[in-house]
Amino acid sequence: MNIKRVLVTGGTGFIGSETVIKLIENGYEAVIVDNLSNSKKSVLGRIEKITGVLPTFYQADVADEKALREVFEKEKFEAVIHFAGLKAVGESVEKPIMYYQNNLGSSLTLIKLMKEFNVRNIVFSSSATVYGVPERVPLVETDPVTHATNPYGETKVMIEHILMDTCVAWKELNVALLRYFNPIGAHPSGLLGEDPNGIPNNLMPYICQVAVGKRDHLRVWGNNYPTPDGTGIRDYIHVLDLADGHVATLRKLEEDPGLVIYNLGTGKGTSVLEMVAAFEKATGVKIPYTIEPPRAGDVASNFAATDKAEKELHWKAKYDVVDACRDAYNFQSKNPNGIE
Ligand code: NAD
Ligand code: UFG
Repeated sequence: MNIKRVLVTGGTGFIGSETVIKLIENGYEAVIVDNLSNSKKSVLGRIEKITGVLPTFYQADVADEKALREVFEKEKFEAVIHFAGLKAVGESVEKPIMYYQNNLGSSLTLIKLMKEFNVRNIVFSSSATVYGVPERVPLVETDPVTHATNPYGETKVMIEHILMDTCVAWKELNVALLRYFNPIGAHPSGLLGEDPNGIPNNLMPYICQVAVGKRDHLRVWGNNYPTPDGTGIRDYIHVLDLADGHVATLRKLEEDPGLVIYNLGTGKGTSVLEMVAAFEKATGVKIPYTIEPPRAGDVASNFAATDKAEKELHWKAKYDVVDACRDAYNFQSKNPNGIE
């Protein structure tokens, strides 16, 4: 089987846009569907600037069956990478229905049309959040997935199950569930990167906004965890490595594997204070911080076992957190108001 054209839902978003670039650089053609609820149309021009190719784009909601059917009728593709979804943990606690409706609705419509049009390969953006509160680290793919700690995470658990059930009923379907750890960084050109709305919830964009003077200081959520310096440990992966992981996964799907599950992380845990130090090393900019009480729902330590992805995908993260900090800061400095 040969995969040449790929439907990328959510392809103007943070991870989707980098993946579209990697697809183009690796000889694939990408067709993007995005409703632009959390990204800008100008991303397309930036992808063209980087690759020389303007990807085909449809502004549509993936949950809108009529609109998505038109895309399936017009375009031919052999695989889908499904990034489209809402992803803010806090917002999902406040607006659970919106999260279930958007994330489940879009996935169900997409899978239904894939069956109808006989598109037999899907890569799904899952998350380390499906492991809930880890009993031990590093997390391996066979660790239990029961309940996530918030509605956003629950949508990922449910969509994983929906895809697993579909695989049982539809034997020709190949599914890759990719559990991302903490994606950070930006395209080294400074043209593309993470562009959160409002006050960033995540560590890296918050540090970047402190660095350019948009925020006064970083608030470190707790320094009393059972970790060497007391602050939370996560597995931060450069978005370029993550994007490469999707290309490697498409190659895996060409082997017709049925259902496969991979952690995409670096295998290395980094604490909040180590991230601050990495950022200062990468940029020369000092990040003032205060120590605050722990954030509700946070775990002490969370990082990936990467052996399975390394062995089966022949893929391994190349960049470290200093690289990612440099690229994220470059993007932030060149786009002080985000992507306009
Ligand atoms: P993002 O918000 O930058 O990208 C998601 C894109 O999907 C956006 O462009 C948005 O406009 C689009 N979208 C949302 N709902 C849609 C719908 N119904 N129809 C069409 N388009 C829709 O987010 P990201 O960081 O690039 O994340 C991509 C995927 O990876 C998401 O599914 C997310 O849950 C998952 N993920 C992200 C992280 C992370 O920390 N960034 C971690 C684990 C998993
Ligand atoms: N942190 C701070 N101050 C901040 C922001 C974060 O100290 O202003 C700390 C957190 O307490 C945590 C670490 O930095 O120890 C990382 O926090 P993030 O919010 O950047 O990332 P999380 O690991 O909490 O969550 C992320 C995604 C989720 C996803 C999860 C697991 O936001 O969507 O990784 O993949 F589910």
